[in-house]
Amino acid sequence: MCGIIGIIGKDQVADRLVDGLKRMEYRGYDSAGVCTVEGGQLIRRRAEGKLGNLVKELGGNPAPGTLGIAHTRWATHGAPTTSNAHPHATGEVALVHNGIIENFKPLREGLQARGRRFESETDTEVVAHLVSEQVEAGLSPQDAIKAVLPQLRGAFALAIAFRQHPDLLIGARLGSPLVVGYGEGETYLGSDALALAPLTQKIAYLEEGDWVIISREGAQIFDSENNPVTREITTSGVSAATIEKGNYRHYMQKEIFEQPVVVAQTLSSYIRPLEQTVALPQMDFDLSAIDRITIVACGTSYYAGMVAKYWFETFARIPVDIDVASEFRYRDPVLQPGGLALFISQSGETADTLAALRHCKAQGQTIAVVVNVPTSSMAREADLLLPTHAGPEIGVASTKAFTCQLAVLAALAAHLALCKGKLSAEEEREIVRHLIEAPAALNAALAHDEDISAMAHLVAPARDVLYLGRGPDYPLALEGALKLKEISYIHAEGYASGEMKHGPIALIDEAVPVVVLAPSGPLFEKTVSNMQEVRARGGKVVLISDAEGLAEAGEGCLATIEMPKVHPLIAPLVYAVPVQLLAYHVAVAKGTDVDQPRNLAKSVTVE
Ligand code: G6P
Repeated sequence: MCGIIGIIGKDQVADRLVDGLKRMEYRGYDSAGVCTVEGGQLIRRRAEGKLGNLVKELGGNPAPGTLGIAHTRWATHGAPTTSNAHPHATGEVALVHNGIIENFKPLREGLQARGRRFESETDTEVVAHLVSEQVEAGLSPQDAIKAVLPQLRGAFALAIAFRQHPDLLIGARLGSPLVVGYGEGETYLGSDALALAPLTQKIAYLEEGDWVIISREGAQIFDSENNPVTREITTSGVSAATIEKGNYRHYMQKEIFEQPVVVAQTLSSYIRPLEQTVALPQMDFDLSAIDRITIVACGTSYYAGMVAKYWFETFARIPVDIDVASEFRYRDPVLQPGGLALFISQSGETADTLAALRHCKAQGQTIAVVVNVPTSSMAREADLLLPTHAGPEIGVASTKAFTCQLAVLAALAAHLALCKGKLSAEEEREIVRHLIEAPAALNAALAHDEDISAMAHLVAPARDVLYLGRGPDYPLALEGALKLKEISYIHAEGYASGEMKHGPIALIDEAVPVVVLAPSGPLFEKTVSNMQEVRARGGKVVLISDAEGLAEAGEGCLATIEMPKVHPLIAPLVYAVPVQLLAYHVAVAKGTDVDQPRNLAKSVTVE
């Protein structure tokens, strides 16, 4: 992961570089640094920890210059210390890197054997030395890059500044994303369009293997064979305003509350409310021929995929495999012709998911992606792009992206069912009617925010918390547990309610709150039986259900959280809200850093 930015400009760049880092802190916040070029000097400032520390450092020790690079780090090789912070520099070259140089060990040994001294434990520093070696030998920056890039294995997005060249920056990408931004007499590099949002909307996305020389006049892009190429300049559409916190205390809180609007926005691309039909984008392959679906994703996106598996199988009667992306390729999956491989990702850049996508593509699968960043690598490599319209999600713990993914996946399930002849027009109308109700139901769920805030202190002291759910609410139990661990650091596990008696029940005592997700409906009685098994052993239950469910089973619980009564189809969207809010309020009660929890990053672009 990590976020990188470079500016070659008309005015001073340090503050603008820091502002760009602020927009990319979601990519990592273990340390940060900038390096400018001024008066034939590389002026480098770095600080461990959050960006605020770098801002303080720059306050006392400014970095003048109209050209510079900057980095926010999620540590892979080497502890999050100042000496491991980027930019890494030699006498001639400073650079920032997102990704991992997998062959850094032999490269480092070679460099050390040639007498070069290292000041960090990072993989990145080898690149600075390799480029520097070439420059010191008299090569131009361009020729130095041409000599070094073929030596690097792994994944990288690089931005490189040269002490003696205050008129250019060089960028390169392989595996990790990098964009070029075009301004008025200024040019930029960034990990994503979001980083450059206040500077420019004119963005070109580099392709795999591309490298670029940027100057104040523009950019010259080359492919991996060093041939000059042009990459389309698009308008990013990401405005700086969409990434402000507004009146909310945290981005996560804002994003939870945006859900009714962004789910409605997303649904409007996938259903025709008047006709009450689903409407998917045009595709140039025959969906009715799909006879198996393989879903691959990570984290919260994986749980959205788990919910979708229920829908695809129930509605379309298509068998579904699902894997976490980091495991997928390593089990050597059997992928038969005629299969649809479906990748779900907020960022569209998660390295494991992207690698799985490429694996499936190479095996001849049709590739569909549900992504929130329509310009991301996954979006650009898909046969069928199904964007979510959640808008930029800044809080590291995913919330609105999840419910928007569910909205798209429900529409896709209905569409597949239609294509397969498993759904009548009346059943389609019914599904669409329920989906249309989702935004209002999300609003009704959000109306319980204060109740949830008021009971958060009951969960905050716990060391362990269990979440139970059945059917499509089982992935929600997993998601609830993930949210709680991510931001409150309380150990939490989600289980299929019926599985609890096969082990986790041994954990039950008065100190372990058990959050039970049980909308009234076909699975309610069975989940409640599992809940009684907990209570019979002295367990303390937090029951999340609708009024009917709470009336039937709420008595004697540690706490109850009421949800609107909704159709089982949209229950996973609606029940996402209380598990998000519970995690949020517990984290606030514990005083943790809600938007930037320790050790995590939002976009995981390393395997
Ligand atoms: C990280 C984030 C999670 C996210 C996961 C997958 O772990 O912290 O919130 O669910 O990556 O990310 P993606 O962008 O592929 O959905």
